[in-house]
Amino acid sequence: MRMLKKCCQARSIMARIAVTDGMATNAVDKLRDAGHIVDLAPASLDGFDAVVIRSATKMTAEAIAAAPSLRLIGRAGVGVDNIDLSAATAAGILVCNTPGSSTHSVVEMTIGHLLTSVRHLATGDRDLRAGNWTKKALKGSELAGKRIGFIGFGRIAQGVGRVAQTIGMELHGFDPYLPDVVWEQENCTQHTDVNTLFETCTHIAVHCNLTDETHHLVNAETLASMPGVGADGIACGNHLVSCARGGIVDESAVLDALNDGTLASCALDVFEVEPATGNPLLQHPNFHGTPHIAAATLEAQGRIGIEMADLLIGFFAGTTPRSVVNRDVLD
Ligand code: MLT
Repeated sequence: MRMLKKCCQARSIMARIAVTDGMATNAVDKLRDAGHIVDLAPASLDGFDAVVIRSATKMTAEAIAAAPSLRLIGRAGVGVDNIDLSAATAAGILVCNTPGSSTHSVVEMTIGHLLTSVRHLATGDRDLRAGNWTKKALKGSELAGKRIGFIGFGRIAQGVGRVAQTIGMELHGFDPYLPDVVWEQENCTQHTDVNTLFETCTHIAVHCNLTDETHHLVNAETLASMPGVGADGIACGNHLVSCARGGIVDESAVLDALNDGTLASCALDVFEVEPATGNPLLQHPNFHGTPHIAAATLEAQGRIGIEMADLLIGFFAGTTPRSVVNRDVLD
């Protein structure tokens, strides 16, 4: 009953909206033009009807309990692992995200990381800056002729797959939640066991959510089973890229695998602990990383902001958003 009451309360016209991790200016303007009050630096969430967050704000059970007037948590982005969904649902708060707005950006970033790894772009740049001309040492390998294995084969992985296929890679994937028809449509070989994916592919791209099931799915054992030799017979070594979420990759196992040559390269945009400034991986020559910026493009942030503003305007006018993550609240 309490949940239903909260949803009905959404029919008010003006709302107080807290934005804790930034939002595109035109999106903020759109909300204000629609009559809502937007606070870009709230001291607390008490008294707000909605909060818009990215990954930095953690909506824990305590944070949710401290904001009793909240009706909606808007995740400007995809991952909702920084929100206690059970606590939000129990409090009758809708959690919504913007699932499609950053797809292109993350696809391009993943391809960028893959190419950077196999062609030593980061290493070459580091060497040059250090005054070293490492022309002979930095022999790369082509992506063409190799097998790429996707852990999770949703929108972003499918986008990466289309580019990878154009480059000449063979697609493989593991995703227990995907309808069968997608595999055929995307020309991707389905693996029902994640172990066979690692055993088959020299290049692994992580694109799943962080859950109890996927925590440390990339670990010492799975890395050790990778073939090291491409489908084209080239000893290209094994390569790992993740722009998904920290915690899916066991970073300590990755460091060991880089040290003993099990992995030829690893590229991460996301880390188990962020900011990752003191991470030991940063000292390894065959590792390169970025500070969780796969979705940080002008285009994606613009789309995300406008999608979130439209969602909030609709919600406070009485429309149920399409991208509700905790649909139980609506029951
Ligand atoms: C996302 O989940 O949308 C991305 O990781 C971007 C972010 O959290 O900032």
